[in-house]
Amino acid sequence: MTEQRQRHDLVIFGGNGDLALRKLLPALYYLEAANLLDQLEHIIGASRAEFNSPQYRDLVAEQLQKYLPDEDWDEEVWATFSARLEFVTVDANTASGYQALADFNLQRRPCIYYLATLPSLYGAICSNLQSSGVLTENSRVVLEKPLGQDLESCQEINSAVAEVFDELATFRIDHYLGKETVQNLIALRFGNPMFSHLWSHHYIDSVQITVAESLGVEGRGSYYAEVGALRDMVQNHLLQILCLVAMEPPNNLDADAIRDEKVKVLTSLQGMDKHRVREDTVRGQYAAGQMDGEAVPGFLDQEEYHDCALTETYVALKAEVVNWRWSGVPFYLRTGKRLAQQFSEIVIEFKPQVHSIFPYNSNEELRNQLVMRLQPEENVTLYAMSKQPGLGSGMSLQPTALDLTGKQKSIGRSNDAYERLLLDVINNDQTLFMRRDEVENAWRWADTIVESWEQNGKKPKLYKAGSMGPSSATSLIERDGRSWHE
Ligand code: BG6
Repeated sequence: MTEQRQRHDLVIFGGNGDLALRKLLPALYYLEAANLLDQLEHIIGASRAEFNSPQYRDLVAEQLQKYLPDEDWDEEVWATFSARLEFVTVDANTASGYQALADFNLQRRPCIYYLATLPSLYGAICSNLQSSGVLTENSRVVLEKPLGQDLESCQEINSAVAEVFDELATFRIDHYLGKETVQNLIALRFGNPMFSHLWSHHYIDSVQITVAESLGVEGRGSYYAEVGALRDMVQNHLLQILCLVAMEPPNNLDADAIRDEKVKVLTSLQGMDKHRVREDTVRGQYAAGQMDGEAVPGFLDQEEYHDCALTETYVALKAEVVNWRWSGVPFYLRTGKRLAQQFSEIVIEFKPQVHSIFPYNSNEELRNQLVMRLQPEENVTLYAMSKQPGLGSGMSLQPTALDLTGKQKSIGRSNDAYERLLLDVINNDQTLFMRRDEVENAWRWADTIVESWEQNGKKPKLYKAGSMGPSSATSLIERDGRSWHE
């Protein structure tokens, strides 16, 4: 029997927390429905809460019914799924409760420990797992973000975990890497000679990466107050996407081949000195406004964020990857909360035609765009110029949307990123997980921006909830003769 075929236990620290109930357990339920959980024996929720297993099953059933569409709830699937569910009360900081974990696994199956709890507890949990003798051969650990709040705290967490788990057994999650379109980016870039040949400063004018959210910051407590949008979103999700857009072709699809290339991108990012931070970054914070015709409070109007005048809920910035492929190509990144629209996308803007032979179109109008939408819908569209149909329009050209999404459209429900990532952990495939040097290099770059913001002490620019961010973010890109793709 190979290691991959062995049965595992999955222990979720923070098993009754928001992430587990809203994302991890629904994802596992869908894997069960697809008959993909045969490698798991138990799914054990663990936390300080005083539940027993039947109470935990009731809680999970209630939450699944809340988060799943009615038609996806299936009593038979639930019966199989719930038979795997257990709960153990564990105090992360003391050795108490850990032994009970071992009691579920007298056969000493390999165990996956998913840490969906406060990152400051990661080190203590790992060391308690080790000292209480619970760890089995081939145990793995999954680390949820945020991995620290800066390079130093990230290194501390990584070092504490590394005392117990080898890098090959450490899975650092960035759930954006599990999204279908993000992987399709790899397929598109390296599976199509047409795109491979065009993928450089010779043909690409600029790149935009947007993650726009209409939700505000609610119920995130001190976490969001302390980190803000740059550390919550840019340091991880947006930089990971940037890496996949910008990396050189890896030799193969092995985890390290891809991660080596991503690290090269991160270390090629133009450093953000004070001058660049002033010129090329914008921080914003939402003020009261309207969403869908309803008044919504500003960030500071919420009691838990009264004192957070310096926390940004929006960032726009211009980054550069300084290497031969990308010289002179700006990467515009933006993300924010309480924006008018909810969408995430990557836009590759190709250079315009050098000369127009068409009387009604200037050469600047003759351009192509590749738009990859991650959400709300997942699709890929290439905008190409074609003749306006009909007799009256002469040779007037217009952009035509070519749908490259293909058959994926018809597969029905698109899988949540966590389904793929959990399956990859079970199958011991690290390709879509971040290696230690990746996360640390991303912090190294992000830290310089945070430091400059802190030194200059200016408050973020206010924008109305329900708008698309502060006007200075529009100026940031318009100054370069470009505009945000909406
Ligand atoms: C999380 C951030 O990592 O990603 C949240 O902490 C954000 O602030 C979320 O809302 C966005 O994820 P998704 O998949 O909904 O775009």
